[in-house]
Amino acid sequence: MKVVIVGASGALGSRLADLLVARGDEVVRASRATGVDAYAGTGLAEAFAGADAVVDSLSLQTLKAEEAIDFFESTATNIARAAAQAGVAHVIVVSIVNAGDPAVNAKFGYYQGKAAQEAAYRKVLGPDILTVFASVQWFELAEQMMGSMSFGPVAAVPRMQCAPAAVSDVAVALADVVTAGPQDKATVEIAGPDRMDLVDVAKALAAQTGTPRWVVGVPVGGRAIRHGGLVPAAPDVVTTTTLGGWLAGRERAQVGENR
Ligand SMILES: NC(=O)c1ccc[n+]([C@@H]2O[C@H](COP(=O)([O-])OP(=O)(O)OC[C@H]3O[C@@H](n4cnc5c(N)ncnc54)[C@H](OP(=O)(O)O)[C@@H]3O)[C@@H](O)[C@H]2O)c1
Repeated sequence: MKVVIVGASGALGSRLADLLVARGDEVVRASRATGVDAYAGTGLAEAFAGADAVVDSLSLQTLKAEEAIDFFESTATNIARAAAQAGVAHVIVVSIVNAGDPAVNAKFGYYQGKAAQEAAYRKVLGPDILTVFASVQWFELAEQMMGSMSFGPVAAVPRMQCAPAAVSDVAVALADVVTAGPQDKATVEIAGPDRMDLVDVAKALAAQTGTPRWVVGVPVGGRAIRHGGLVPAAPDVVTTTTLGGWLAGRERAQVGENR
């Protein structure tokens, strides 16, 4: 199968690309570095020619709703139109569980962007072609949040009740969706094994690495985000790596690197 991954140099996209290559698929790794700009719409037609499946694993770093909506709406429209034009049988967009719920995304500009992305895809592609692959937050997000909001020895992390998963497990679930092809389910939801606050993931990680010294939870995302609005009621896939397992894996990787 020929699969084009848009965002193939990213945290999820790169893992997906490696998994599909190992399964014997032909993978086109698309990103700006390989001459494909999904926002400008350049390089998509060439990349999609002869493809059986296209995966959108794009992201940008922003908390601003206006920026996120503009980016995700534009890239989704460009990719969906180019895929339809090329006759691609299956398009999979990576999204976030319940990001489209206004109660959840009201105070999270990035999630408003993801809602606009899903809507833009649904406008162009039918459910027989489109799969919305909705993941919960990743353990890795805690690290990203600590990096973006730190003040000396203190990092601020939004209080988010979630069921986090390891990105490596999410990549396997995504590869399975690609391999299965277009099914009758238009949305596939992925959850991690346990429910917890993202702040507790950050604290456990900080305790392991020694930095930052303090992690402070901040109630910035609104009530729904703090009280389970991000947790799927009946996920299609529950991943297996626990927080303890993920931390142990990080430690093993670190020891390996230092050898
Ligand atoms: N982090 C989480 O907890 C979480 C949870 C659920 C779902 N998700 C979703 O997972 C998806 C992937 O996230 P990620 O963290 O893996 O992303 P990431 O590491 O930030 O990677 C983003 C990718 O997008 C590419 N890109 C950005 N702008 C582009 C453009 N204009 N044209 C073409 N490529 C462009 C980047 O490559 P270049 O810069 O080289 O172009 C890169 O390959 C996102 O949809 C995100 O919302 C994330």
